[in-house]
Amino acid sequence: MPTTSQTILITGVTRRVGAHLAGHLLDAGHRVIGTYRRETDALHTLIERGLIALPLDLLERDRLTNFADQLAARVERLDLVVHNASIWHADADCAADPSLATVMYTVHVTSPIELTEALQRVLPARVRDDGQASRQVVFLTDAHIDEGEPQHIHYIASKAAIEGSIRSLALRYAPHTRVNAIAPGLLMFHPGDNADYRRQRLARRLLPFEPGPGVVAQTIDYLMACPLINQAAIRLDTGRRWGN
Ligand SMILES: NC(=O)c1ccc[n+]([C@@H]2O[C@H](COP(=O)([O-])OP(=O)(O)OC[C@H]3O[C@@H](n4cnc5c(N)ncnc54)[C@H](OP(=O)(O)O)[C@@H]3O)[C@@H](O)[C@H]2O)c1
Repeated sequence: MPTTSQTILITGVTRRVGAHLAGHLLDAGHRVIGTYRRETDALHTLIERGLIALPLDLLERDRLTNFADQLAARVERLDLVVHNASIWHADADCAADPSLATVMYTVHVTSPIELTEALQRVLPARVRDDGQASRQVVFLTDAHIDEGEPQHIHYIASKAAIEGSIRSLALRYAPHTRVNAIAPGLLMFHPGDNADYRRQRLARRLLPFEPGPGVVAQTIDYLMACPLINQAAIRLDTGRRWGN
């Protein structure tokens, strides 16, 4: 873990992984900017703990430059960007309303790439005196890209698209910025998931436990601590049973 306080932007901190990660990084003494659409109790608690909260809807692509300018007015540097915000529509819903597939591509692929570009323009990263990149960009993708998800082809395709971009982005931004991905499998159930569903999902794992959002925070700590990791997509899925 870097000893100095880092300035960190996380998209989508209103609940679950984003809220946990923001709290974890605030506890570690970092300056954390979190984006939100809806105001939640979790968001208000984070604000009380020091979070700088800025509204952002990734579906409003024409406002991304505005958002970057707004951020640059609040902070003079940016060390880590975590693209966490996500939306999860099943293929059946996309068939009923084809615009939902586009929504997932916008939230997971187009807007995060455009936001990353806009941030580089207004808050440029640099090569530090020790030769290391001053910035890291991390995308939250999904381990099911490897495993397959027959009911969520559009969601998985959009996550695969952004994971597929990390090599190109890292080439564009070297040597001042590193670009990595964290690809979780099941992290946490939704409150409405019933006992049968939970049993089935856990039975598919090599290590059948519900890890919770803390494993993403542990991986972010690792990526921040190790300056050599670039163009990596780290699977957080307990391993896989290939071929059976
Ligand atoms: N949880 C898991 O088991 C799991 C497994 C694999 C991968 N992941 C990945 O890990 C990340 C976090 O997962 P999660 O379960 O915590 O997600 P989540 O509960 O669905 O939360 C998603 C966040 O994204 C925000 N968001 C949604 N649409 C947005 C938009 N148009 N503009 C801006 N923000 C938007 C939401 O904000 P609002 O509340 O304001 O709408 C919310 O804060 C995601 O990228 C997900 O794909 C999670």
